[in-house]
Amino acid sequence: MPDSISFPRNFLWGSATSSFQIEGATDEDGRSESIWDRFCKQQDAIADNSNGNVACDHYHRYKEDVQLLSSLGLQAYRFSIAWPRVIPAGTGAINQKGLDFYDRLVDELLNANISPYATLYHWDLPQILEDKNGWVNRDTAYAFADYTKAVVDRLGDRVASWATLNEPFVSASLGYKTGEHAPGRKSPTDSFAAAHHLLLAHGLAMPVIREFAPKSDAGIVLNFTPCYPATDSAEDKKAANTTDGWDNRWYVEPIAGLGYPADAVEALGWDQKEIQPDDLNIISTPIDFLGINYYTRQLQRADGKEPVKPLPQTDMGWEIYPQGIYETLTRLHNSHGFKKYFITENGAAFADNADESDFVDDQNRVDYFHDHLQQVHRAIQSGVPVNGYFAWSLFDNFEWAFGYEKRFGLVRVNYETLERVPKASALWFGEVAKSNQIPER
Ligand code: FCB
Repeated sequence: MPDSISFPRNFLWGSATSSFQIEGATDEDGRSESIWDRFCKQQDAIADNSNGNVACDHYHRYKEDVQLLSSLGLQAYRFSIAWPRVIPAGTGAINQKGLDFYDRLVDELLNANISPYATLYHWDLPQILEDKNGWVNRDTAYAFADYTKAVVDRLGDRVASWATLNEPFVSASLGYKTGEHAPGRKSPTDSFAAAHHLLLAHGLAMPVIREFAPKSDAGIVLNFTPCYPATDSAEDKKAANTTDGWDNRWYVEPIAGLGYPADAVEALGWDQKEIQPDDLNIISTPIDFLGINYYTRQLQRADGKEPVKPLPQTDMGWEIYPQGIYETLTRLHNSHGFKKYFITENGAAFADNADESDFVDDQNRVDYFHDHLQQVHRAIQSGVPVNGYFAWSLFDNFEWAFGYEKRFGLVRVNYETLERVPKASALWFGEVAKSNQIPER
């Protein structure tokens, strides 16, 4: 083993956030209610009964935040755009004031030499569209293409890379099947429809991005969680295969032109009535890159009981399984051979202990990043064209149903003063970015 591991020249180092998790200012400059604003009002939907009204106040502090990215030495920033700011009624009139914010953010990033990586949808659907049946309604896919046009027309000349959706699996599954996320529905049938319309939205948006931002990359961000049977039993193996189908193959296979995974479709009993004749062609429009979000693995039992988790866990109860990022990258590349890949999210929540100056010496998080980056490097050595890595997340932020109780940040946010203090992991990661190598630990 060499003392340090170097990454390919031009490998891109960045950090990621999303609009609802950090912006706050939910009532400002014409933004309308999103499904997450509404969901947060439901008693106990969010562990600490919090909401996104202030979050990290990034809407007002974006200049300071860009300075922070720059002082850490990061070269790219992945953020998302809030549909309810841009088209408050979901369809129709564009709210220029909403777009102005992203215009300022993008210029600020470019002035600081940081490459803007934008995601068009990170879960904050305008509530008014949910009132019309949300992603279960096919019209939402067309509305998304119109929203895409509004955004890309304004920012397309300056944004390096566009992702249509972030983790449609989570939108469809946690939003429409388990009800853990907004809009909180619990209908498997609705979740099949939502999944299909999300993919359709992606496919309809791709040519719009190409038209209005011909020089930018266009792709999608999917989450992958390698899935293993908890025991050697045939039942557990079957359960693991079905979950792998629904969690990992359901989105990437149609995008790769293979249609939906037949084994999982059958096992889960989807009648596919939502698929119209040209849909699978639209969905398989070639992408420039695949964004991969990776956190953990999962173990499956057919009897529905909680499997024993043998590995150390993060504060989310997620097993730390670095080799899963290697398995995911090599599996995807061997199966589909996409042109390029980014790790668009990877990171860990830990119960941080801050000192009196709010500094966190999070060596556990450094270990997590270090061990996963080693595996990313290994995948590159095996021939997978991984072009960059975004740590999740730049800040501690609103972690969806967990509210502010889970901290994923490279940078600590003091929620009383909103002060930002880089953790040891931020300083370590900044050095990695600047030197383009991971030091030995
Ligand atoms: C991903 C989400 C991101 C964050 C991390 C922990 O599923 O894309 O917003 O919540 O998990």
